[in-house]
Amino acid sequence: MLPRVLGLVLLAQVLCATAAQFNLTKEYSGSSFFDDWDYYGAYDASTYGAEVYVTKAQAGSLTSVSPAGHALIRLDNTTDVPYPGKRNSVRLTTQQWFGVGTLWVVDAIHIPFGCSVWPAIWTSGANWPNNGEIDIIEGVNQVAWNQMSIHAAQGCTVPPSPKQSGNLTEGDCSQGVGCVVEENTPNSYGKAFADNGGGVWAAQYDSTGIFIWFWPRNKLPANLQTPSDTLDISSWGTPSAAYASPTCNITEFFGGQQMIIDIALCGEGADSPGVYAQTCGDTQTNACYLDNVINNGSAAYADAYFELAAIRAFSPAGTTTVFGSAAAAGVAPGPNGTATAGAPAASGSSGGGGGGSGGGAAGGGSGGATGGALRLGTGWELALFAGGVGALGALL
Ligand SMILES: *[C@@H]1O[C@H](CO)[C@@H](O)[C@H](O)[C@H]1NC(C)=O
Ligand SMILES: *[C@@H]1O[C@H](CO)[C@@H](O)[C@H](O)[C@H]1NC(C)=O
Ligand SMILES: *[C@@H]1O[C@H](CO)[C@@H](O)[C@H](O)[C@H]1NC(C)=O
Ligand SMILES: *[C@@H]1O[C@H](CO)[C@@H](O)[C@H](O)[C@H]1NC(C)=O
Ligand SMILES: *[C@@H]1O[C@H](CO)[C@@H](O)[C@H](O)[C@H]1NC(C)=O
Ligand SMILES: *[C@@H]1O[C@H](CO)[C@@H](O)[C@H](O)[C@H]1NC(C)=O
Repeated sequence: MLPRVLGLVLLAQVLCATAAQFNLTKEYSGSSFFDDWDYYGAYDASTYGAEVYVTKAQAGSLTSVSPAGHALIRLDNTTDVPYPGKRNSVRLTTQQWFGVGTLWVVDAIHIPFGCSVWPAIWTSGANWPNNGEIDIIEGVNQVAWNQMSIHAAQGCTVPPSPKQSGNLTEGDCSQGVGCVVEENTPNSYGKAFADNGGGVWAAQYDSTGIFIWFWPRNKLPANLQTPSDTLDISSWGTPSAAYASPTCNITEFFGGQQMIIDIALCGEGADSPGVYAQTCGDTQTNACYLDNVINNGSAAYADAYFELAAIRAFSPAGTTTVFGSAAAAGVAPGPNGTATAGAPAASGSSGGGGGGSGGGAAGGGSGGATGGALRLGTGWELALFAGGVGALGALL
């Protein structure tokens, strides 16, 4: 006969039809942290940023491992960038693809922040938006809290009154901003996050929904206080963001995901109309770029770095959800039942050091100075980070 406690655990799993017991299946940490990531190595035209992502060969000290064994990912804050150039930064994509069932745990000491800075840790499918996108950590400029989101094709929405602690500001995940949820737990971003010793995010990509938890360093659950190869998540409680089926059928709208870490500058995140001025003050045209990106950049970018203790991927015990290709990790059939594998994403989610323009900061070429002006009037960019300071309501 089963011990009583184990019997209850098994019963709970059957009732919920979703895993609570996870085993570690992939870890990025310590001196090998950077081994299994591709460097984007090009300009990402889809977000209109003022950064150029370096190749691995160009990265130099922009990616490194600290004496404490933490991964450091920074943008170039020492080069003098003349107008209208772009500044060198880093975008990394996992060589691995993650399927439904994956639980990612991101332990961060520091997340980039500061005027014009737009960092994110997120995941994307091969064909955007039909294979989905999960934004776990994202912020711009001097906002005070983390913003979570998922992006999907039309037909994926958030139900009324989702069981989450964060604030929902957009419920249709096919909108440009995605289904945005603002973190309500204090110290989730910026200087307050760093001063508090950082914190841990967990994101569960499950057939029953996508769920994101956040804990500041001083409030970690017992089973995240020291690294472990096994995790029981049944005690974690209400997530910060909950994108549950059936209003979003995960296996229909999400295919295999790669994780991405990047630090963008200005563009449609930090410099969408009105957003820069909300936390950085300067309302002049192109202020995001002119006030920060050009010249030596040093003061603006002293905090524009990730310090990551580890990123771990877990799979339901007895399975693996870590794969070597998009197809192996699963393909979303899409809202009309049509397979959506194949063509790379328009957003360039499948990193991988392509040729591109990855020159020095001064060689970034034209367009660096145009900021958000190009996209005025297209609508959705307006809302991308407006929610970060409470203005989004006016647009809904
Ligand atoms: C979330 O909403 C509550 C209630 O309206 C509000 O007090 C809080 O400031 C909001 N938090 C964020 C991060 O927007
Ligand atoms: C969810 O999508 C999958 C894949 O398309 C499909 O097999 C399943 O029937 C859908 N579930 C519901 C409840 O619609
Ligand atoms: C960077 O520029 C600022 C103002 O342009 C100047 O005060 C500062 O000394 C410069 N720093 C370095 C390291 O050159
Ligand atoms: C550049 O940024 C790093 C952190 O990434 C910081 O330690 C350093 O002081 C900054 N350099 C300058 C000149 O501000
Ligand atoms: C998961 O980890 C636990 C604890 O180390 C171990 O007993 C179990 O065999 C593992 N399960 C699988 C399927 O690897
Ligand atoms: C699915 O079908 C609807 C209605 O015919 C259409 O508007 C939509 O573009 C289709 N979506 C995809 C991804 O093919």
